[in-house]
Amino acid sequence: MTTQDVIEQFDRFVIANYGRLPRVIVRAQGATMWDADGREYLDMFPGWAVSGIGHCHPRVVEAIRRQAGELIHVDNTFYSAPQGRLAQMLSERAFGGKLFFCNSGAEAVEAALKLARRATPDGRYKIVTMLGGFHGRTFGAITATAQPKYHQGFGPMLPGFKYVPFNDLDAAAAAVDDETAAVLIEPIQGEGGVRVAGEEYLRGLRALCDQRGVLLIFDEVQTGMGRTGDWFAYQHAGVVPDIMTLAKALGGGVSIGAMMATPQVAAALVPGTHASTFGGNALACAAGIAVIEAIEQESLLDNVEVMSDRARARLEQLAAKHPMIEEIRGRGLMIGIELNQPGQPVVDECLDRGLRINCTQQVVLRLAPPMTVTADQIDRAMAVLDDALTAVATVPARAE
Ligand SMILES: Cc1ncc(COP(=O)(O)O)c(C=O)c1O
Repeated sequence: MTTQDVIEQFDRFVIANYGRLPRVIVRAQGATMWDADGREYLDMFPGWAVSGIGHCHPRVVEAIRRQAGELIHVDNTFYSAPQGRLAQMLSERAFGGKLFFCNSGAEAVEAALKLARRATPDGRYKIVTMLGGFHGRTFGAITATAQPKYHQGFGPMLPGFKYVPFNDLDAAAAAVDDETAAVLIEPIQGEGGVRVAGEEYLRGLRALCDQRGVLLIFDEVQTGMGRTGDWFAYQHAGVVPDIMTLAKALGGGVSIGAMMATPQVAAALVPGTHASTFGGNALACAAGIAVIEAIEQESLLDNVEVMSDRARARLEQLAAKHPMIEEIRGRGLMIGIELNQPGQPVVDECLDRGLRINCTQQVVLRLAPPMTVTADQIDRAMAVLDDALTAVATVPARAE
């Protein structure tokens, strides 16, 4: 089948709810993808941060192969070893919580919202979330997502949600009342434009929640599993949540989501209160175990720091050269470059030159290189970005 054949098939049989680039990807390895026409791409946004340790990491591939030959899925009526092992590995690397497994970020958020209501005293049902946040596309998750564009045409949203400005502790304090069950926040807003929550602010939220008997939920679907240079972004600030959501990079490309809660809070979910048919299946959990092993055995958290510094230094040079760069933000290998003009033309120019990046909120270029990225790949990506910025510039670049 040619690229055109596949696109025509999609046009006829697949719902057109995604804006897709006209390329058919047939193979990928690490930070490299190949399309059906034999073109190679350097992928600095693999799988929208799902392939956190790169495409088809050999340890993940091997773990999936091995597990598929033994047990792909057994329902949660029974115990299975990979689910227990992955739960222990995650718990020991985070705050000692207990795990519920599902299949996606939105489901993890739904689980967190349900648990928050159930684990707090009767009458507490309100959830405070942050303007510009993103938590997924199911009804609870889009209601939690305080961006009107995601609500349009789907109303009414769920009752009980209050939205406050990000990084504004006073606003959060004013929004919390005696009916509030939880405050939900991404430690770094990803889709919202790579906006980092201040450490003081996170500490303030923790204190606020403690004082008012409210649970603190960190959505680490995008920031978790090493992307920021620590296992979880909350660890930089030393602020421990009551509940944390994970997905994306957790399965190394296999769909899996997870919610971790402190044992005390987790106790509210007793048999029959919440479930997922596929959640915690042996195949996905085996992939998750392999991801954690790869991160540790290949010292990938250290690589995140080294490559982040390298990218950041080069980006500062690009910011000095290209007047369209307003700000560089992020942490570790979660990088946002805010422009003073639309970012999509830059993304398109990059793709034509064999580099895949992303743009969010119209003007923020987003890079989430795999944790396995090499110095050569970072340098190549920055060189292409430089060319792409030059190509779209309406104001000439400054001399370097
Ligand atoms: C912070 C955050 N939470 C939740 C989600 C939803 O995850 P999923 O698309 O797997 O449902 C996303 C997806 O981008 C996200 O970035």
